[in-house]
Amino acid sequence: MRSLLRLWPYVRPVRTRLFSAAFVAVVASCLSLVIPLVLKWIVDGPVADRDPGGVWLGALALLLLGITEAVLFGFRRWLVARPLAGVEAAMRADLFRHLQRLPVAFHDRWASGQLLSRGTTDLMLLRMFLAFPLTFLLVNGTTILAGFVILFLQEWTLGLLLLAPVVPLVVACSLFESRYSLAARRSQDQVGDLTTVVEESVLGIRVVKGFGRHRSQATAFREMAERLRGTELLKARLLGGIWALITVIPELAVGAALVLGTVQVADGDLSAGTLVAFLSTALALRWPVDSIGFLLAMSQEAATAADRYFEVMDAAVEHESHDGAPEAERAPGTADGLRFEGVVFRYPDAPADGEPVLGRIDLHVRSGETMALVGGTGSGKTTLTALVPRLYDVDAGRILLDGHDVTGMPRERLRELVSVAFEEPTLFSASVGENVLMGAGGGAGDAELRRALDIAQAGFVDGLPHGAGTQVGEQGLSLSGGQRQRLALARAVVGQPRFLVLDDPLSALDVHTEALVEAALREVLAGTTALVVAHRPSTVMLADRVALLSGGRIAAVGTHHELLRDNAEYAWLMSGGAERPAPGGPPGTAAAAYRAQAGGGAHAGGEAQAADGAPTDGEAHAGGGAHAADGAKADGGAQARGGARAAGAAESAAGAEGSIR
Ligand SMILES: Nc1ncnc2c1ncn2[C@@H]1O[C@H](COP(=O)(O)OP(=O)(O)OP(=O)(O)O)[C@@H](O)[C@H]1O
Ligand SMILES: [Mg+2]
Repeated sequence: MRSLLRLWPYVRPVRTRLFSAAFVAVVASCLSLVIPLVLKWIVDGPVADRDPGGVWLGALALLLLGITEAVLFGFRRWLVARPLAGVEAAMRADLFRHLQRLPVAFHDRWASGQLLSRGTTDLMLLRMFLAFPLTFLLVNGTTILAGFVILFLQEWTLGLLLLAPVVPLVVACSLFESRYSLAARRSQDQVGDLTTVVEESVLGIRVVKGFGRHRSQATAFREMAERLRGTELLKARLLGGIWALITVIPELAVGAALVLGTVQVADGDLSAGTLVAFLSTALALRWPVDSIGFLLAMSQEAATAADRYFEVMDAAVEHESHDGAPEAERAPGTADGLRFEGVVFRYPDAPADGEPVLGRIDLHVRSGETMALVGGTGSGKTTLTALVPRLYDVDAGRILLDGHDVTGMPRERLRELVSVAFEEPTLFSASVGENVLMGAGGGAGDAELRRALDIAQAGFVDGLPHGAGTQVGEQGLSLSGGQRQRLALARAVVGQPRFLVLDDPLSALDVHTEALVEAALREVLAGTTALVVAHRPSTVMLADRVALLSGGRIAAVGTHHELLRDNAEYAWLMSGGAERPAPGGPPGTAAAAYRAQAGGGAHAGGEAQAADGAPTDGEAHAGGGAHAADGAKADGGAQARGGARAAGAAESAAGAEGSIR
């Protein structure tokens, strides 16, 4: 319940309206208590005196009271409706802003459905709480108190009789609250899980359909929905139980008061009017008392919703330090490039006893240089690139941009300096132009857009129905993987950043487009300091030097040729050979295979070996490669791509000038 108090900052701006609404409701509710007093006056006055005029007068008074009460309640509603919608909107906006500022590590950990349900269902529950239970617990409490004062003034013995059920009811209510709060929490969490399943099935609809998994998805959904249904039924049972107690026990007390009162009237100890007034007051209190059950239930749900809301809001946002701001200003003289110094990083959710993904990274990308980052799959290349724009913070060591630690830099400055193209090119529901210009500051316009699209060889944009104004993303035209990749690349280069980080930016392109993009990229890379993750020799060709990431360290740095000659693992990675050398082992087999391949045969080097029964010793390897060099397996359309790439590699292996900068 304490988290409900934390709603105050949001409620504060509308407090005047909320308090006036509560006041109006209290007045309206107390008016209903005047009705029994008028009844008493009618019974003991005009009815006893047989005066029809007086009865009419009394009836008119009752009518007016009823109308006033209805109008006041309507007024209360009008008072709260609009400001509370505003409160809900403000809380939702805050949640969204907070979600955007939370670190990537937070989003790695949290299911999106949980966040979604907190931003929708939970906030709706909170608005309903502010509109109803909050006011009516107060209003009904006041009404019940005023009612009992009137009851006691009428006839205190009967009043005591009605008060008797309070003790068992309070006990029942507190028991109910504790059990209901658990059920409410469970139900709201289950709604979040259910949302996650729906979201994943919709986003992954291609996989679901492609593998015929709709049945199992439906089963998973049904099971979760069943579980949620169970929890909802439990809630209904709890609510039904407390409601039964709350209605039946006071009703019994009223019945007893009726019997006792009638006896007193018969004995002449009590006027008939007083008994009528007493009983109608008791009946007028019925609704305020009855409603307490579901008001408590709604409050409990709201408390849970507030807990869930603040769980997200309390998550720490990215650490922002400002002390680096003045330092960043003196950049021009010291163009040092990009430097990793003893960088250690472990994912926050990785087991604590395992090896960190990045053990100790020391790497210097000189200013203006393009460094290719090569490593086996899962070696941590993406992780390393994510550290530069501070999607994650390093555990130890530092990353320096022109001598300035990225952690000491204001985020805006960092975003200005560094541009990233990720492995998975994400596009938003916006036009092509907007998607690309996202990568630049506010000032960029059509000229920059055009230039970026040219570099990324995204000429296909002109063929789209509305050119760069075409809507893409989830609610727009679907683009192919290669097209999306080119837009992501355009987004990375549009701002002409000083540092460019590209995570395998060309993987989805056909070999001709790749060559065109590379040619255009060379121009851009000449003016920036770049770290480019590469899997293929043709991408490596873009770089001045290559760094090999292996075992959480930079195992070797050098030009493509040097590494090819001196490093077995590198040669193996570039060759597509079958056997993996020990990391850091002597150059040999794989390099031989690579050279053989480059000598003219496509990827067939590996295949020939496989066909030969995957020999394991070095000579056989080379032999396989030689096989390929004869062209034995290098035919066929399917090989064209590999062939062309190997031809590119051949160029380099032969030391052809021009292709390597
Ligand atoms: N968000 C994450 N949380 C925990 N572990 C992660 C996360 N992302 C990646 N990893 C782990 O970190 C390791 C390195 O992953 P990374 O994505 O950096 O590899 P990579 O070199 O880019 O591979 P690839 O060539 O396949 O893209 C992997 O073992 C992976 O399981
Ligand atoms: Mg990767």
